[in-house]
Amino acid sequence: MSSRIDGLLDIQRPGDATVFSAEARASALELMGRYPEGQARSALLPMLHLVQSEQGYVSADGIAFCAELLDITKAQVAAVATFYTMYKRKPTGEYLVSVCTNTLCGLLGGDEIYATLSEALGVGHEGTTADGSITLEHAECLAACDFAPVLTVNYEYFDNQTVASAEGIVGQLRSGTRPLPTRGAPLCSFREIERQIAGFVDTRPESITAEATGIQTEAGVRLAVERKESAPSYAASEPAAGAAGDPHSGQMTGSSANDAPLKTAESDAAASGNAAIPGSASDTAQATDGTQAKGE
Ligand code: FES
Repeated sequence: MSSRIDGLLDIQRPGDATVFSAEARASALELMGRYPEGQARSALLPMLHLVQSEQGYVSADGIAFCAELLDITKAQVAAVATFYTMYKRKPTGEYLVSVCTNTLCGLLGGDEIYATLSEALGVGHEGTTADGSITLEHAECLAACDFAPVLTVNYEYFDNQTVASAEGIVGQLRSGTRPLPTRGAPLCSFREIERQIAGFVDTRPESITAEATGIQTEAGVRLAVERKESAPSYAASEPAAGAAGDPHSGQMTGSSANDAPLKTAESDAAASGNAAIPGSASDTAQATDGTQAKGE
């Protein structure tokens, strides 16, 4: 609770956008340039990750930085920064260790892993060790239930964990060694991964060739292909030019009903008439032919 209060106090500072370097400013402008003209504010999410890559968390300075560049209020930036758990309100350690304590992982050992690491590190949820090496957090489902229990270090997966293996990972991190994740790219620092999440490509050769999935993850797709099954097509219920045909034909070309773009733009009167708005009604017709809606 106190960490949350500390974060809120920090956010109440006026903030100073000038603390960011010219290089950081150029990166932010590059992110803004990836969005359609007049919609640069859509770059706020990646820009907050960019801020974390610079400072290790979303500081009041970072909020001022985003607000100034996007020409929105600091309150608007703060509202977003305090909504998502991936935006940290306090300086984060070099390694963010996230232990899944959601239902499946928790029952299979995640709760015990978190409790053991918390005691060993002497920190609780969102706490950082005194040497600044590790921030611990318990996490909601990390979308790797097929490898439960899992933990991530700077969002890279360590699958099928035990208390002993998790202690080993943390011990290596604290001694300055980077253990190899079970799959995906090799570890980097929290600030480095935040720059990647902001949208700047990891160019390490070993990252480019890394396999991010596992046999378990792909089992459903493999079985569906073998059985010539596919999800009911969204296009089948609302025919459009070029729409996919029989949803049970084995041709996995159509969108499923779950892919149907939501007409979120209709809640924004100013935007609902703009054909370029991702997810707008005008995009729906395009999406029914099996192509992916912009911004999805
Ligand atoms: S419950 Fe842990 S990854 Fe889903």
